[in-house]
Amino acid sequence: MEKERAQWSSRLGFILAAAGSAVGLGNIWKFPGKAFEGGGAAFLLIYLLVVPLVGMPAMLSELAIGRAGRANVVDVFGKLGHKKFAWVGWVGWTVAFIITCYYGHVGGWVLRYVAAYAFQSKEVYADPAGFFYGVLGLHAADGTTFLPWVTLAFAAVFMAACAVIIIRGVESGIERFNKIGMPALFILLLILLVRAVTLPGAADGLRYMFSMDWSKVNGQTFLIALSQAFYSLSLGMAIMITYGSYVPKTENIERNTVLVCLMDTMVAFIAGFIVIPAVFATLGPEGVGKGGGFAFVSLAGVFEQMPGGVVFGVLFYLLLLFAALTSTISLIEGIVVFMTERFGWKRTPTTIVTCTVMFLIGCLYTCSQAAVDIKGIWFDVVHGVSYPALCDAMEFLTDRLMIPLGALGCCLFAGWVWKPENVIAEAEQDGIRFKLAGVFRFLIRFVAPAAIIVILIVSLFTGTTLS
Ligand code: PHE
Repeated sequence: MEKERAQWSSRLGFILAAAGSAVGLGNIWKFPGKAFEGGGAAFLLIYLLVVPLVGMPAMLSELAIGRAGRANVVDVFGKLGHKKFAWVGWVGWTVAFIITCYYGHVGGWVLRYVAAYAFQSKEVYADPAGFFYGVLGLHAADGTTFLPWVTLAFAAVFMAACAVIIIRGVESGIERFNKIGMPALFILLLILLVRAVTLPGAADGLRYMFSMDWSKVNGQTFLIALSQAFYSLSLGMAIMITYGSYVPKTENIERNTVLVCLMDTMVAFIAGFIVIPAVFATLGPEGVGKGGGFAFVSLAGVFEQMPGGVVFGVLFYLLLLFAALTSTISLIEGIVVFMTERFGWKRTPTTIVTCTVMFLIGCLYTCSQAAVDIKGIWFDVVHGVSYPALCDAMEFLTDRLMIPLGALGCCLFAGWVWKPENVIAEAEQDGIRFKLAGVFRFLIRFVAPAAIIVILIVSLFTGTTLS
């Protein structure tokens, strides 16, 4: 049953939606911590290699696959005549599902921080780390724990907002949202950058970010850079294929790919250069705890030392909230469209039920941060079986295993099964010329899959760092 598929209504609409999906918590909440763990400049360098060599060809392929097949992630492979590759779609769909479970909750934390800066800035400033633990259900003073009901309620509000936007549909819901928020976020980040790097003590952080600490680099670092790039660019799961399926044939997907990758990487780097110097300036290097807390804990020191800091604080978390929202929406869109197209379910109830289930699973994620001792399971060759906290296990499973696998599937499909020629032909619709077609062919066939395979194998043998 072929229905008329939605399309982005304008050129700007598509690029902003793709950028809106890419720019999200990954850039600001995940990237700085990983850059820190990965040895500063060494990690940045690896990241800068991975994006153009692996990320860009993969994104272009996903958009082309989506636009050519005009279907959801699973069925698209059959539409292109290769039903056997539907597993790639299944992997992608599953990753998107698991990620949304926790992503929606971190969105809730961000919302919690909007309220915190608006109404409790003194408490945040007095003890940034303690406040953050409090949000997660741990009294920093005496180590006792409690169920973080308030935070869970914020997450529920966040998920509900996403569901409403999804129900209202792609064009009206997602596009309108992106037009103002994206540029605003960018400008605010630049302002924060200036403040952060000029804080007393920030120089040590800058030095760290510019020094190549190769002693911290091993096979895992490459895997982390690779999967962070995929995560940040929204690749290896349902997203860019789904979004590609809404792209009009008149769009230049080559140029769009480059633009989205550039924007996303710039935001990540700016965030890194805000957060790490801020951590050094306000908490000292030993304050660098779990990566996840970075964007919440360290920035308090920046806002505290800015005139009008509270206003900037509220504004920053509002914009981060909005970036998280556009990313979550893209995730849910990919998940829901598959179910409505595949099983013929209605969009509204499907969205409501899936979002509720994902929210509930996500409660375990938030609670296992500190409040409740829930373990997950993980395996690598060096350490054997281990039982990290459930929240970490969820992130390991998606970031370190499933995303690279999904991405590998996409690259192999585009490079060897559907063939680069078809990707190129799809990119060259409507008289557009694909300038780097030759480079693309080489990257998607050899460089990208080889890099992913080597990195996966090496990392399996160098073990998981449990942070
Ligand atoms: N790319 C988004 C970010 O950086 C997260 C995301 C991942 C969104 C996967 C969609 C799909 O936060």
